[in-house]
Amino acid sequence: MSETVHPHQQASSLWTSRMAFILAAAGSAVGLGNIWKFPYITGENGGGAFVLVYLACIFLIGVPVLIAEIMIGRRGGQSPVATMRTLTNTEGTSKGWRIIGWNGVVASFLVLSFYAVIGGWSLVYIGKAALGLFVGADAEAIGGQFNNLLANPWELLLWHTVFMAIVVFIVGRGIRSGLEKAVTMLMPMLFLLLIVMVFYAMSSGSFGRAVSFMFSPDFSRLTTEGVLIALGHAAFTLSIGIGVLMAYGSYLPQNINIAKTAMTIAVLDTSVALLAGLAIFPLVFANGLEAGAGPGLIFVTLPLAFGQMGGGIVFGALFFALLLVAAITSAISMLEPVVEWLEEHKGANRVKSALAGGFAAWFIGIGTVLSFNLWGDVHPLGFISFFEGKTVFDLLDFLVSNVMMPLGGLAIALFAGWAIRREGLAEDMGLKGGAFKAFMVILKFVTPAGIAIVFLYNLV
Ligand code: PFF
Repeated sequence: MSETVHPHQQASSLWTSRMAFILAAAGSAVGLGNIWKFPYITGENGGGAFVLVYLACIFLIGVPVLIAEIMIGRRGGQSPVATMRTLTNTEGTSKGWRIIGWNGVVASFLVLSFYAVIGGWSLVYIGKAALGLFVGADAEAIGGQFNNLLANPWELLLWHTVFMAIVVFIVGRGIRSGLEKAVTMLMPMLFLLLIVMVFYAMSSGSFGRAVSFMFSPDFSRLTTEGVLIALGHAAFTLSIGIGVLMAYGSYLPQNINIAKTAMTIAVLDTSVALLAGLAIFPLVFANGLEAGAGPGLIFVTLPLAFGQMGGGIVFGALFFALLLVAAITSAISMLEPVVEWLEEHKGANRVKSALAGGFAAWFIGIGTVLSFNLWGDVHPLGFISFFEGKTVFDLLDFLVSNVMMPLGGLAIALFAGWAIRREGLAEDMGLKGGAFKAFMVILKFVTPAGIAIVFLYNLV
């Protein structure tokens, strides 16, 4: 274990318990990725076989990076930038690894800028569902509601602002009275809402069909592309590679076993994704809708189902409340690295750092707001054929999800696997004997190879 006590590794600023850290990290992991993206990519890729591959990716690629990133964060005990600066010195490695810290602070901040815009949609949809706007509406009307929302920059901006204000408020209050309080309240609520939604789906009459769609693998429906999508999503859904877990890990007490904790986080995240599928697909099948509807699955297909079902007003509103809670607990984790960095480097207090970081992310987010309407035809890198037709939002999403996250994850796996000293490593990660040896083989070879393949594929 590292002996130096870093600025943030003081008792008063650490998570109060292992549970608090698990809820915060699981809160980061469980987000739009689980409830919005996982069901629709499962639908598009044919169900069962895709789910199996996804599970393998979570445990072979995701968990090793999760363990490594949290361990690095705790060893350094500061913002990702300062943590990597400290570690490259104390571990005697090349200074080049410091890029991991900068990559983290910048990427998590950029992802927040557009995540908040989409988080804002869930606020709008809670209102729409509760007001009964889906009742009796046909596919065209519901699709029209979604398109009208996207076409209106002021409405998008309003909800983007409200969402960001909530995030800044929570993060500004600090680790214990802000983040920890929020997640201990919101995460149980999220699980409860999810269970309620699954029971509601069970009563739809198509639960059995949804279960067999998700769990009976039909490998003839799995494509190479599906495998790569599963891999990329495994990284996104666990929030790995972009510094948030490093930042959260910097507040983790020394006596907590990282390997066990990381496993718990991955199991929670996976359970939520699977339960979200079990809440959504029965409603889709019961109403004769398309499981492979794509990104519109929860904003268009699902409202159509709610509009046709008994209790659709209440359960529709509950579903979007669930989405909102999941999005907030992820968004607060994205603000943390930059806030921790501002506190350290600019000497600003917590509130000012949260306001400054939140404002800057909000400002960049305006580019995403406009991408859906006024700037719909603006393609900043359109002169490069690879980026043809990509809006500001598409470019940001591509940069973060397909470049900065995978490369960050790859660098973290390589740094922890090859560069840092082996003494104390097993103990720091919470692994012993054979388990540690096996783990190091995965971390050194399997994980980097897996990430490198997805990264290259996405570029070609
Ligand atoms: N894991 C989140 C989700 O599945 O929605 C997304 C995410 C959170 C990505 C935090 C990156 C991050 F730093």
